[in-house]
Amino acid sequence: MTANRIQRLIHLIKGTNLSGVALNPGPTLTYLTGLHFHLMERPTVLLVSAGGHIGLVLPALESAKLAHTPGDLHAFTYGEDPASWPDVFKRAAQDLNLAVGEIGVEPTQLRFLELMYLQNALPGMTFVDASHSLAAVRITKDQNEIAKMRQAAMIAQSALIETLKGVRPGMTEKVVANELIIQLMRAGSDPGLPFSPIVAFGENSANPHAVPTDRVLNPGDLLLVDWGASCDGYLSDITRTFTCGEVDPELIKIAGVVLSANAAGRAAGKPGLPAGEVDRAARSVIAAAGYGDAFIHRTGHGLGLEAHEAPYIYDGNQQRLTLGMTFTVEPGIYLPGKGGVRIEDDVVVTGTGLESLTDMPREVRPLEDLMGA
Ligand code: CO
Ligand code: CO
Repeated sequence: MTANRIQRLIHLIKGTNLSGVALNPGPTLTYLTGLHFHLMERPTVLLVSAGGHIGLVLPALESAKLAHTPGDLHAFTYGEDPASWPDVFKRAAQDLNLAVGEIGVEPTQLRFLELMYLQNALPGMTFVDASHSLAAVRITKDQNEIAKMRQAAMIAQSALIETLKGVRPGMTEKVVANELIIQLMRAGSDPGLPFSPIVAFGENSANPHAVPTDRVLNPGDLLLVDWGASCDGYLSDITRTFTCGEVDPELIKIAGVVLSANAAGRAAGKPGLPAGEVDRAARSVIAAAGYGDAFIHRTGHGLGLEAHEAPYIYDGNQQRLTLGMTFTVEPGIYLPGKGGVRIEDDVVVTGTGLESLTDMPREVRPLEDLMGA
């Protein structure tokens, strides 16, 4: 399966000006090779040339991982003395016939460490941003990948339901976030979560990227949870908002608006439609209700091996949705000092529209209905 993926990448490179691409450990390298490396002080770099050559520079101690890689992958291993590493990079560059032209990299992944060794080995080459081409390799998911994302959604949902049974006024955001992490592990998530869960009470829910604090839950608060699980590396990313006791009527009002905006976004998407239209559909509902200025972020982002990847769902994005793309729909309204509501689902583009992989009720419900006895 991965051999086929690398061939798709080579085909894609041939259609560009690139002479090759260089990737360091991360989702794209794993997607293409099936190999897992972590980032460390020793550089690991996958080189793929437009001519179809594949090289991997890596520490000798990692070479046991190569037992199940495509046969045409040439490994260039190095020992523990960093003085020997530049020559290994040079040998890889020669073997792949890389000397002049442009080499594509992922700016959000490649570190200065790898870039230093690459520039030293490829002095005649220009390093360029190839995010767009590289994202295209894995932007549409096959049935197997979608099944894993669906499973990641199910794990996350059941973990939250278990967590909420034990939530009581007086608990802190941190305590609830930690309990959610334990429940995610119990429900079968991979140990590496997509991101640290956001648990935000009251006024803290008005910050879309809140970090759990010692703020305690009080009656009258909104309780916002943005969390996800990982299944074989495929992620979920969900947000649900709840009420604790009697809350300000305006918060109930915005909850209804966000629910409608989420539904409008999910109803709008279909194959062939520019991604930006999903944002417009959700945003127009919020604007019509008079809260346009309080929806301070894009409607969503692609989801898969990374918690944020292409396609990005922002107004004006002309990239067309195609079958098998997966992304979030997550409109929100944030009222500083009062609270915020966000409702986030994970969807896949099907032949007829968007199918939601997340199915937990979206309505902003009273926590009291979900607490255990
Ligand atoms: Co989220
Ligand atoms: Co998200």
